[in-house]
Amino acid sequence: MSRESILIVDDSYDMLEVIQRQLTSLNYDTFQASTVQDAIDILKHSDVDLLITDLQMPVTNGMELVKYSATNFPGIPILVITGYPSVSGAVEAMKSGALEYLVKPFTAEELKKAVKKILQHQPPKTKKIQSSKSIDNHWGIIGESKAIHQLLDLIKRINNNKVTTLITGESGTGKELVARAIHYSGKNSQGPFIAVNCGSIPENLLESELFGFIKGAFSGAYETRTGFFQAANGGTIFLDEIGNASPGVQTRLLRVIQEKEITMIGTNKPQAIDTKIIAATNSDLFAMSKSGSFREDLYYRLNVISVSIPPLRERKEDIILLANHFLQKFSKEFDKHGVLLADDAVKLLIKHSWPGNIRELENVIQRAIIICDREIKPKHLPGYIKTSARSTSDDSTAMLSLKELEQKHIIKVLQSVNNNKTKAAEILGINRKTLRLKLQEITGT
Ligand SMILES: Nc1ncnc2c1ncn2[C@@H]1O[C@H](COP(=O)(O)OP(=O)(O)OP(=O)(O)O)[C@@H](O)[C@H]1O
Ligand SMILES: [Mg+2]
Repeated sequence: MSRESILIVDDSYDMLEVIQRQLTSLNYDTFQASTVQDAIDILKHSDVDLLITDLQMPVTNGMELVKYSATNFPGIPILVITGYPSVSGAVEAMKSGALEYLVKPFTAEELKKAVKKILQHQPPKTKKIQSSKSIDNHWGIIGESKAIHQLLDLIKRINNNKVTTLITGESGTGKELVARAIHYSGKNSQGPFIAVNCGSIPENLLESELFGFIKGAFSGAYETRTGFFQAANGGTIFLDEIGNASPGVQTRLLRVIQEKEITMIGTNKPQAIDTKIIAATNSDLFAMSKSGSFREDLYYRLNVISVSIPPLRERKEDIILLANHFLQKFSKEFDKHGVLLADDAVKLLIKHSWPGNIRELENVIQRAIIICDREIKPKHLPGYIKTSARSTSDDSTAMLSLKELEQKHIIKVLQSVNNNKTKAAEILGINRKTLRLKLQEITGT
């Protein structure tokens, strides 16, 4: 059997050297990289069995490498190393796909234990190479439908320009995945990818978070702070849930796009920036621009290239592929190899309307793997999937539009959880806010 190879990523050469020596003495082959970009090159072109990465690195941070690797090379396990102040970063890394973390400084013995533990649980090498290759070609985007082929084609055509791009799609359709694909496949991939959720940052903070501020710019500005735009210089800024940006932020964004420069709050000295802007929304920004809740000029500036991701129910042929992909992913994660999907369960998955799209499918498969034995049967799927399948085949709903069907489904789920919106949102695989918006549509409020 060939020796296992470990890729070590750290911006400190001393650290690289120490880890490399320890691993070589344990009989592993090693690759070393001091930047995320070098690490990605190695991942693409070499046969790596384990990725060990530091989190705090200049230029592109290790978290981006964790996300990139987990998406494009799901077969390669990840061990994160981090300094004491960023243990919360380690937690975030685990959520993004890392398996283990070690806090610096660690002993040779601790490193050995962590590496052994991870590698012991890996399936044989041949399997890993196959899956990482086929997935890598499409940046982790799974699908065989015409819509997905067109999407992949579009990504290839637009990834090398700096034109502002607007990604639209319902909740859970893969907007962030596509934004990352555009970034990591393009020529600015060595630069940072900075994702900003315009919906989760309080309105009064978003402006200063985006553009930075100088000391004394407003009460509470005790020190100068750079913003997300400066951090994304040379790379991509991903403005998620752009529909939630306040009028003030919208005006500033328009200026950034037009002038290609930003002005920190509290100064009037613009700085040039070279950043690709990708925005995403699950609202109808066009309608919002018509009704006056979103600046029309900004809408057109953002929408120079528009990428629209169709909901899963409009590309049913992808359901089985995706279900199998998540089956592999979670059976590995939960150490339940060889779990199968029974035919009658597949039928139910295909019939369901998936209002929460791929994220909902991912949640359903994850839950089923946990509770099943060796095969996922209909009884391992949530009850609402069975009822929704029944209702689509019964005559009273046969003539409904997809939208009506979705609304009927939402109501049914809500009833089944006694109107508990948090629970309903969880089952539907969407966030509470999306559920609230959908309910507003249903009730017309
Ligand atoms: N085509 C796909 N192939 C594989 N995985 C996918 C695909 N599309 C989405 N996913 C997975 O589904 C989940 C949701 O995707 P993502 O976060 O990109 O969606 P989103 O549109 O940004 O959702 P939201 O509107 O809720 O922010 C992620 O785990 C993502 O990796
Ligand atoms: Mg998203």
